[in-house]
Amino acid sequence: MCGIVGIVGTKPVAGRLVDALRRLEYRGYDSAGVATIHDGVLDRRRAEGKLFNLEKRLDAEPLAGVTGIAHTRWATHGVPNETNAHPHFVEGVAVVHNGIIENFSELREELKAEGREFSTQTDTEVVAHLLAKYVRQGLDPRAAMLKMLNRVSGAYALVVMFQNDPDRLMAARSGPPLAIGFGAGEMFLGSDAIALAPFTNEITYLVDGDCAIVTRDNATILDFQGREVSRPRQISQATAYVVDKGNHRHFMEKEIYEQPEVISHALSQYVDFVSQKVRPVASEIDFAKVSSLAISACGTAYLAGLIGKYWFERYARLPVEIDVASEFRYREMPLLPTQAALFISQSGETADTLASLRYCKENGLKIGAVVNVRESTIARESDAVFPIMAGPEIGVASTKAFTCQLAVLASLAIGAGKARGTVSPEDEQALVRHLVEMPRIMARVLNIIQPQMESLSRELSKFNDVLYLGRGTSFPLAMEGALKLKEISYIHAEGYAAGELKHGPIALIDENMPVIVIAPYDRFFDKTVSNMQEVAARGGRIIFITDEAGAAASTLPTMATITLPNVDEIIAPMIFSLPIQLLAYHTAVFMGTDVDQPRNLAKSVTVE
Ligand code: F6R
Repeated sequence: MCGIVGIVGTKPVAGRLVDALRRLEYRGYDSAGVATIHDGVLDRRRAEGKLFNLEKRLDAEPLAGVTGIAHTRWATHGVPNETNAHPHFVEGVAVVHNGIIENFSELREELKAEGREFSTQTDTEVVAHLLAKYVRQGLDPRAAMLKMLNRVSGAYALVVMFQNDPDRLMAARSGPPLAIGFGAGEMFLGSDAIALAPFTNEITYLVDGDCAIVTRDNATILDFQGREVSRPRQISQATAYVVDKGNHRHFMEKEIYEQPEVISHALSQYVDFVSQKVRPVASEIDFAKVSSLAISACGTAYLAGLIGKYWFERYARLPVEIDVASEFRYREMPLLPTQAALFISQSGETADTLASLRYCKENGLKIGAVVNVRESTIARESDAVFPIMAGPEIGVASTKAFTCQLAVLASLAIGAGKARGTVSPEDEQALVRHLVEMPRIMARVLNIIQPQMESLSRELSKFNDVLYLGRGTSFPLAMEGALKLKEISYIHAEGYAAGELKHGPIALIDENMPVIVIAPYDRFFDKTVSNMQEVAARGGRIIFITDEAGAAASTLPTMATITLPNVDEIIAPMIFSLPIQLLAYHTAVFMGTDVDQPRNLAKSVTVE
């Protein structure tokens, strides 16, 4: 996602702007650029790819100037090349932008009809043209900025520099975050507090609908009608890094996009990327010796455990008993000390999961905890802790914790199989190789499916009920898809094993109930397609989440087909999690619900 920095300074800014961009690298980007004003002239350097390329350009052709703006671009409109990289210049106006100008094509046509020529494929260029046009009409920068803001619509954070106004930067926010930093005789703008951290910790966050005029020693904040508004100045905490939404509208979105990165952290604890072997697991649980495994958890963590059951049974030939913790704790299930128990919990504080853990402990079982919060009660009361390394998960609907739980469970299952002699060294290497490739594939998938998920969500939001179907590990994933959708969009959704369709839910099928089928081209594919046929024959609409091989193999008409890359069965649940998360997220955003804090839900459920 794009990153923005601006400085109205007293000493040269180009190097400092690039340093600040480096702190925004975590968002991901594919080109970068910096612009300054020097001796009344705008100048810029831009480069495709990593910041390193931009630095090389700046070394070869340095930029002077004490006022400047900079940007890392994550391409949305237009390919990631130097031409499309920001800052965009039009007639003495320089613009950096994060977000999407939704009415850009009509504005572009209008401006073209007036004789303006466009040099990029970006939506951002219309902003620069509009501003240039208004300045040409005689408006001062402030008036031009306000007039432009009343013409554009969409989600944006903007920082603008006018050649004829070298001592000020203008900024605006409608969606993506933007912060003003207060320095000593210098002022800063940045996408978040992290970018500004070395310059200042005195921050004012703009809110949607704010336009800021930033000079060397002050900032004035206006609404888009030009009325002055006041925003609090706050001291940013060291924890800003972990609680910042970055450039995302919601923590949930940020957490979805963080998955490739956090999964590689998680995996690096459990597998050796070089030798492609699993690392030895905590010695307190000897998977070679245990007679069976009891797994218990709640909600999404339970569904991760259910997928884990398929893996432990398949790869380690280890029988698994699994139940939701609120049932497990009261089921009076006979337990043997030869069994081991695994408790899965993001927070590590969930009351029912903790009670189940204590029940197992009383029965003499060795306890393992798959947790995100390492200092949590569940971790403290366990014999072995398997951290999932997802980093703080703020969005109530679990996303990155789920896929990190899966990555850890997959690694543990392979390790258990190795210990029990059911996974050969060759199998181990092949399986680990797939795990190692997973973060890269996730990043690619997130990139390619986003627009389709967004438009499909608009369709989905018209329905009151949705059915998710899947087989094998796609069955728990179907339940997870339904859980995500109902939690944040409030659309009623159910997840079923595809084979159960004809045992009941088929009665519900009609054109008003879309059926989302998760079906990678695996051992179960043909059987799942038969179930799809049953849906199609009854006028049901199908949203088909499959892979390239599956898309090629099925000729059934669908409402939409989401085609993911072909991947190995062991990583399919993590890869196929991405469309179900994005579908729920965009549907909720479209319906205007409180995505990060859905009604009635809490992140950590510490009561029964
Ligand atoms: C769903 C969700 C919840 C949690 C459940 C368990 O998106 O987040 O279902 O998975 O409340 O919470 P933890 O993992 O903290 O035990």
